[in-house]
Amino acid sequence: MTSEVFISILAAEFLKNDITIRGALMYSLNSEKKDPSNSLFEKDNADECKMLSDCGYSDKAIKYYMEKPYMGSLPDADQVSNMIGSCGDTAKIFLKIDQNKITDIRYQILGCPGAISAAMAAVDIVKGKSLEQARTLNDGHVFTQLVDLPAKKHHCIQLAVKALHKAIDEYKNGHSDLKDVECLSVCSAPEGCCRNKTDESS
Ligand code: FES
Repeated sequence: MTSEVFISILAAEFLKNDITIRGALMYSLNSEKKDPSNSLFEKDNADECKMLSDCGYSDKAIKYYMEKPYMGSLPDADQVSNMIGSCGDTAKIFLKIDQNKITDIRYQILGCPGAISAAMAAVDIVKGKSLEQARTLNDGHVFTQLVDLPAKKHHCIQLAVKALHKAIDEYKNGHSDLKDVECLSVCSAPEGCCRNKTDESS
């Protein structure tokens, strides 16, 4: 069996099991074929794009997944929150907020291509919006932005949306008249409770 065939079978198994395949596809199982010019890397990316397309991901969703324009962290974030999806996949979201507007967002996703593309699409929708506008984001908005996802991946959009909602709620719990009410969220602000941050800045 050639290494290319083996990689294709391996990747198909990963897809079937809802596990991100990127790492697997970027790894050459045949060291003799390593190519310093990155031609193998590019071929792997093309293979991955084709498989995602065959599974029902739109070109736009694939682009979000491959480029991951908002993946990472914000060291000076005003709010950091975590969300675990029903499937066990995890999203960590970083919000930079200025005068009630979301000026920047990053996601860290431990999850499938659907969750990653949905998170990237969500950022494009809410960046620059007020907290109240961003809080109205729903799965339909993200799906429209993505154009299409496989039917069995529609639930993955919820992880990105719920993470954003949770971050906004936690931020507001620490920066509004709710600050005197017991915080029911599992707060994950970098410096401890988000309400402590409010107390320092007010
Ligand atoms: Fe868990 Fe996609 S399978 S978010």
